[in-house]
Amino acid sequence: MLTHEKIETNITLMVVLITLLISVAGLVQIVPLFFQKSTTAPLNELVKPYDALRLVGRDIYIREGCYNCHSQMIRPFRAETERYGHYSVAGEYIYDHPFQWGSKRTGPDLHRVGGRYSDQWHKIHLLDPRAVVPESNMPAYPWLDRPLREPHIGAKMAALRMVGVPYTDQEIADAPKALEGKTELDAIVAYLQGLGLSLKQTR
Ligand code: HEC
Repeated sequence: MLTHEKIETNITLMVVLITLLISVAGLVQIVPLFFQKSTTAPLNELVKPYDALRLVGRDIYIREGCYNCHSQMIRPFRAETERYGHYSVAGEYIYDHPFQWGSKRTGPDLHRVGGRYSDQWHKIHLLDPRAVVPESNMPAYPWLDRPLREPHIGAKMAALRMVGVPYTDQEIADAPKALEGKTELDAIVAYLQGLGLSLKQTR
């Protein structure tokens, strides 16, 4: 029989049992999330897969490290919802691979920034933040005003389809055309303008 003394005096046995305990306890918490509708289904009909331009914009957001200063996760506290809008819910992120929650806010949360400013404001702000917000310490991204080059957009969308984003063959075939004549700036602004629209604050 396994007594306490046996376990506590045999480090190998203790490690095995602790690992077993943590694994089971972890699975009990994590596995149900894969089957709950609130975490696996889109929140509403406004949550759609990113179109080609926004998808590329999202990649530029990741490439430039915007997530180092901006979160996309509004917590359910009054101080947050008063400033940013409705708190974030799981069903809004289901097409995000990977999600951009972030963990640091040097700048404001961006989860509901869509529609808050004009496209023109965003363009000026990204090229030169201090032109519109004099006290800003956000870096300038002047190189974004260059033609978009994304030869692998179709393959990218096909890969996302494999992890559950429902792109149609037609959408994938049309993707290169949707990017024609666009700049990186167009793409990242399109991405920002679509953020968080599925759940606007209703007060
Ligand atoms: C070093 C930190 C830092 C980085 C990196 C950064 N930002 Fe910012 N950002 C800020 C700060 C600080 C503000 C607030 C002042 C301002 O509006 O410029 C801000 C403001 C913003 C705003 C306005 C938000 C609002 O609600 O007023 C947007 C949009 C934005 N950033 C987008 C971006 C994008 C896109 C990138 C990546 C290309 C980026 N930021 C990178 C610090 C950063």
